[in-house]
Amino acid sequence: MELGGVQGTSDDAAVSKLSACLLGYYEDDFMRIFVGKETRRSPLINRGYFARVAAMDMIIERFMEATASGQRQIVVLGAGSDTTYFRLRKRGFLPDLYVEMDLEGVVAKKLDVIRHYEHVQEALGVTAGDVDAALASPPSARLLRSKNYVLTCADVRQPELFETVLSSLEGFDFSAPTLFISECVLCYVEPRDSEQFLRWALGKFPHAAFTSYEQILPDDAFGRTMLGHFESRGCPLLAIKSFPDIQAQTRRFETMGWPQVEVFDMNDVYYKCIPRSQVRHAERIEIFDEFEEWHMMQAHYCVILTSRSQDNRLEGLRLLKPEVQKESQDQIKIKSTGSGDQQPDGENKPTSADLVAPLEGATRPIPFPMPATSTSSDAPANPPMIPSAAPSSPQENSASSE
Ligand SMILES: C[S@@+](CC[C@H](N)C(=O)[O-])C[C@H]1O[C@@H](n2cnc3c(N)ncnc32)[C@H](O)[C@@H]1O
Repeated sequence: MELGGVQGTSDDAAVSKLSACLLGYYEDDFMRIFVGKETRRSPLINRGYFARVAAMDMIIERFMEATASGQRQIVVLGAGSDTTYFRLRKRGFLPDLYVEMDLEGVVAKKLDVIRHYEHVQEALGVTAGDVDAALASPPSARLLRSKNYVLTCADVRQPELFETVLSSLEGFDFSAPTLFISECVLCYVEPRDSEQFLRWALGKFPHAAFTSYEQILPDDAFGRTMLGHFESRGCPLLAIKSFPDIQAQTRRFETMGWPQVEVFDMNDVYYKCIPRSQVRHAERIEIFDEFEEWHMMQAHYCVILTSRSQDNRLEGLRLLKPEVQKESQDQIKIKSTGSGDQQPDGENKPTSADLVAPLEGATRPIPFPMPATSTSSDAPANPPMIPSAAPSSPQENSASSE
């Protein structure tokens, strides 16, 4: 079943995630079943998807840690073919309820795949009959449900219907800590619609966290190429012009009243937030020398993590751990006293401006590749060892990160 427009982006993401899994960037036993034809992506794309998945995994893990003592729920907006549920289940790390929602076509397609695989039904805790019943229901009532998994149709642009769907789920508790995940989803929604949704979540949930992975920097050469690509695919990035950079994204949430907001571009997420052991593992997989493109591409994606909790129980849910925050502040102090740009671990790390500047025609050098032999826990890992596919163009970079 071929899906067009924005629903088709789910298949593109799945193909790229599978490429990264098959090469060993991360483990996923279920991705393969959601992809028709395996396609090997370039090292740049594989590493980008590794970083994206690692960032989302890290946030889920921190949410689970912060809420370990009671009921907690995860609601995945525009879940597509995502397989995080299975990976969490394998680790014995599931929340009380894991709810996946998407538009009708995507949900029908996912159900159709689940229908064909008994081991998937087993992992989800459902029967073939449950899947058939869900497929036979009208989209407004389409629901696959087990003890802690739900797959259903919901459009983020209609929070009132969203609320109706969630209210109808036995065991769903609006007062329990709830993490909303939007991995490349709100970027396809008009700002007024996402605002309506985010205001609804803030008003409805006393303990809510919201994370989003989305594109930024539409106005440089790379950004323009990226925009053109999505437009030509029939799924324009509807939010990017309203929230073009980290500052605008931060304001977006702060003005709505989300009290704790962190927004980092993917360079910062990769070098400062994702566990070093995972990064070291990923950097050993393929030969990689496209550092300029890598930093440019990563500068065009950001992760937002915001939360609000009436009793502060989500206060510790942060992208940047406090010790790293302190290190960053110390670095700022070193810089502002004119003591040089060297970071404590001896590395020069780029800022987004460093990475985007070359696109704008500036001649500022990019301070990478960095030495591969550092033993610092915050340094990039050892050189890659396995031969890779051909390098990709900026068009492919943006094109493949759906
Ligand atoms: C790029 S895919 C990402 C899929 C998944 N989150 C992932 O990262 O693998 C975007 C998904 O958002 C869904 N989507 C787009 N607009 C939506 C809306 N208004 N409501 C719900 N889902 C939406 C699409 O159907 C698609 O599955």
